[in-house]
Amino acid sequence: MATVKPSLRVISLALAGITGLALTAGVVSSVVANRRINRQYAVAVVVPVLHSDSAVIRRGRHLALAVAGCVDCHGYDFGGAVLGDTPLLGRLVADNITSGRGGVVAGYTDADWVRTITHGVGPDGRSLLWMPSRRFRDMADADLAALIVFLKSVPPVDRELPPSRFGLLGRVLLPTGILERTMGPLIAAEWVDHSRPPVPPPPRGVTVEYGKYLARIAYCHGCHGPDLAGGGGPPPRATNLTSAAVRAWSEDDFIRAMRFGARPDGTRIGPAMPWVSRGQMTDDELRALWRYIRSAPHDSLR
Ligand code: HEC
Ligand code: HEC
Repeated sequence: MATVKPSLRVISLALAGITGLALTAGVVSSVVANRRINRQYAVAVVVPVLHSDSAVIRRGRHLALAVAGCVDCHGYDFGGAVLGDTPLLGRLVADNITSGRGGVVAGYTDADWVRTITHGVGPDGRSLLWMPSRRFRDMADADLAALIVFLKSVPPVDRELPPSRFGLLGRVLLPTGILERTMGPLIAAEWVDHSRPPVPPPPRGVTVEYGKYLARIAYCHGCHGPDLAGGGGPPPRATNLTSAAVRAWSEDDFIRAMRFGARPDGTRIGPAMPWVSRGQMTDDELRALWRYIRSAPHDSLR
């Protein structure tokens, strides 16, 4: 029987073909990625009335530390941090948002503050990376104003950080959606509907509606999933908050879990759950959250 031996020439042609296809796919992917990364967004914003007094600053501080979780990424001194850095994938840096050396907000207008926080668009018109602005899009005007007034009052921190950037592999993988499936939305401005007006916020109170408002800006949906039924991100997986186990908790159990990071059975809730920050919410805020969590079924919040 004659064996068919592919000649060296055929093999090398095939290899060259495969390499060529892979290179072309890579180039096309990075062209697509670059277009998305460098896209310009023209977003007109309405600046809420910024009235600075000590009560407003206290409210803004509470929002930044305990509710909106700015501290999760920008740090308790708001001086920023490198969140991740791998040569091939890229570098993700939460900026220094103080007026110190290395801070990016020194030249900010009030409109810049509103555009970065609620639209994910930087002063240069490009999308911010990974900044969860879509969560803050429907923040009440008074809350947004308090947050901005507080941030402007933060003591300067001198910390120079390298800029965020996409690596070669990061650019090739971005259009495949693989990165965003594990990390969540990377091109922040793509996830915001820039043209619709903000949803009017509910009045403050111990209500399901106010709990839902808090859950959104406190980012509970970001980790626990759009309907709070558990996150799909990298381990540790954020728990299903609608499970029978959690539903059996009392309101006090929930408040203790949030304040001290311990479940009713005494087991610890790990540091991947930012209870150190969110546990600083007021009793009424936590009670509103609990009402919302107990009010199944949940609408899906992207
Ligand atoms: C999950 C992490 C995360 C959280 C939470 C977060 N940020 Fe950011 N933020 C980032 C990252 C990452 C960047 C840098 C984006 C970039 O380099 O494109 C950023 C950038 C910024 C910028 C600077 C934009 C510029 O000019 O480059 C401001 C201002 C800002 N965030 C404010 C806030 C405020 C206020 C909050 C809370 C309401 C907040 N961030 C919550 C991750 C976060
Ligand atoms: C940055 C991601 C993240 C955010 C934001 C977040 N969580 Fe969690 N949460 C987790 C993770 C991860 C766990 C599981 C931790 C563990 O098992 O050690 C968890 C666990 C919990 C638990 C314990 C449930 C159980 O029995 O395991 C509760 C309650 C909870 N989160 C409520 C909330 C609420 C309410 C919010 C919004 C105010 C919130 N979380 C925001 C990641 C997050």
